[in-house]
Parts: sequence; structure tokens; C-alpha cells
Amino acid sequence: MTLIPGDGIGPEVSEAARMVIAATGAQIEWDIQEAGAAVAAREGTPLPDRVIESIRRNRTALKGPIATPVGTGFRSVNVALRQELDLFAAVRPALKLPGLPSRHPRVDIVVIRENTEDLYAGIEFERGSAELQRLRDELRSLAGLDVPADAGVTVKPISITGTRRVVAFAFDFARRHGRGKVTVGHKANIMRFSDGVFLRTAAEEAAAYPDVEFESCQIDELALRVASEPESLDLLLLPNLYGDIVSDLCAGLVGGLGVAPGANLGWEYALFEPVHGSAPDIAGKGAANPVAIVLSGAMMLDHLGEGRAARVIRDAVQSVLRESSALTPDLGGTASTEGMARAIADKAAEVLGSA
Ligand code: NAI
Repeated sequence: MTLIPGDGIGPEVSEAARMVIAATGAQIEWDIQEAGAAVAAREGTPLPDRVIESIRRNRTALKGPIATPVGTGFRSVNVALRQELDLFAAVRPALKLPGLPSRHPRVDIVVIRENTEDLYAGIEFERGSAELQRLRDELRSLAGLDVPADAGVTVKPISITGTRRVVAFAFDFARRHGRGKVTVGHKANIMRFSDGVFLRTAAEEAAAYPDVEFESCQIDELALRVASEPESLDLLLLPNLYGDIVSDLCAGLVGGLGVAPGANLGWEYALFEPVHGSAPDIAGKGAANPVAIVLSGAMMLDHLGEGRAARVIRDAVQSVLRESSALTPDLGGTASTEGMARAIADKAAEVLGSA
């Protein structure tokens, strides 16, 4: 498997994930590939071709976070990977974990986010640029509308094709994981021709899955429901931007970014990564919570058909959280990244030994 340690806390938590996965006995040979800030400084690009080639070869990757420096001209490595490998669905489970404070006793939500379109498609026009001036003229003649001269513009494309495949993916996922309801979030009353396509396409495709309940909900109301009655939600299917925001909101309900795993999936390739970023404020201090990437590793093992190793990791994480003896500072403890990972790995070995 390709392993991209990443920036900031990435190398620390990636090492922790390797330690825990090794403890399950799963035979993984890692093809370690550097990407991110250090590579950019050395080679002039944060994402050398060999990284993409490695993932194409191995088909599956585990990745630490990669920083996107603001305003340097570098394209986000994360967005580039999703586009290059056509990883059109992001899967982000939010499960209430034992021992962690939460306002709600039962949270078990999976967010599936469309990963390639919407306002993240990268179609942008800089304020004051000649291109934006031409676009403003076109818009004035086509729509009779004036875009303010001091505005910047980002375009929001949402296609039937792009929506159809993520809807099929989401309903298949619901079936395979025994989830009974898919809730689509949108703002189709305002953005009729972008969110409208998402909503209508989802509703049409849902008819092919009569065994899975389908509902739609405006995104603002959905945010309220996530915060106030998360137990009424099962699988959320969202366009790119809403999915990004709502999945962090869900992570906040179950213990924060330190415990939120994720996957970016397409028909051909799979890239597993924690939801969190490179956390520059705690990088190098040994204070990062390894659980998010460890649980991302468990998702990867499931994907590889190593379901037993995945279950052992989840059980081990839950035991360590329940016992509260080796928690990192974000969870109120004093353990180091390595200390918590070691405790999880020891539990995994214990579970396997007693099986
Ligand atoms: P962040 O997720 O790195 O940090 C937000 C807060 O959460 C910080 O206080 C951080 O210390 C804390 N945190 C995050 N992960 C943690 C962990 N495992 N254990 C304990 N605390 C943790 O988000 P931020 O600061 O907005 O982004 C930093 C950089 O990461 C940016 O360059 C951003 O572009 C990048 N990023 C990369 C992602 C990826 O590679 N998929 C995802 C999100 C952000």
C-alpha cells in the first residue's frame, strides 16, 4: 500500500497507524511516498508524479494530512489527488465513541460527500483580472446582472453525471452497511440550477433503491438537525462544500477532529485519510491524537477484505478510550501520540491473543 506521511503531525500519526496495523498481523508492505511542503521546497512541486504513480500501482493508499499554504500559488495536493484519481466520494463516519464527552448519547452518522464538483471544482476568477472583466460583461448581457467590480468569483458546477455516480455509490454503501435511510442536503430553492440538479438527480436515482428510505432536507435545517437530533440521521449525502462543513460538524459531535476518520473513493482507487489537517500548532510535540488515522487504517483494512483486523483495531480503540488511561491532550489526557498508539496496539494484540 502507498503511505503518504504528509506534513505537520502527519509523520507522527502515520507512524502510529503503522504500529497499530502491524499489531493486527495484517501483512502490509508500505510504499512510502513523500508529498507536501518539504517536497515542494526541494523539488518545486508538493505532489511529484511518482506519488500518483505509486497509488495507481497499488490502488490503495493511507495518507496523513498535507498543508495547503494560503496564497503561494500551489494547488491543494488534496484536491489534486481527488481529481487525478477521480476519487469522487468522500466517506466520513461519525460514531459516538465510549469515554468521550458528547451532548448526545447516540450518534452514528456517515457523511458521503461528492468530492469533485461544486465550488471546489477550481473554476475561479480573480478580482480585477481581465478574465473576470470579460465574464462580468458576458453575465451582464446573458443574465442582465452586474457582478460588483470589486468582487472575486468562484463558479459552482454540479452535473447529472457527477451526481449520479455519487448517489449510486451512497445507496450501494447504505445497502452494504445496513443503513436504512439516505438524507440529501441541498439549497435547491435558492441555487435551483446547481443544487437543483443534485436534488433532482438524487431523487430520481433513489427510486432504484426502494429498500432504502430517501429524504431531502435543506442544508440549514440539516445543520440544525445534526446539532439537535443526530439520532434521526443515518447516512447524509451532500454536495462538496456542504459535505466538507457538515462532516466537521459531525466530527465535533463525537469527540473532535482527533478521532474522525475518512476515505476518498472512486471506482478504481481508494485513499484513506483522517478528516483533520496538519495541525501546525502541535506538530513535532508528540501531542497529536492518532485515533483518526488509526480508524482510517481500519477503514482501509475493511476495503482490502481484512475485516477481522479492522474489527480488532476498532475494538482496541474503544477499549483504550473507555479505560481513559492513555489519552492524548485533546481528549483531556497526558499521553503522547506514540503512547496512545502503543496502548491501542497492545490492546489489539491482547484481543487477538484471547481470540
Ligand atoms: P487542522 O485540522 O490541522 O487543525 C484544527 C485544530 O484541530 C488545531 O487546533 C489542531 O491542533 C487540532 N487537531 C487537528 N488534528 C488533531 C489531532 N490529530 N490531534 C489533536 N488535535 C488535532 O486544521 P487547520 O489548522 O485549518 O489546517 C492546517 C493545515 O492542514 C492547512 O494547511 C490545511 O490546508 C491542511 N488541511 C489538510 C487536510 C488534508 O490533508 N486532508 C484537511 C484539512 C486541512
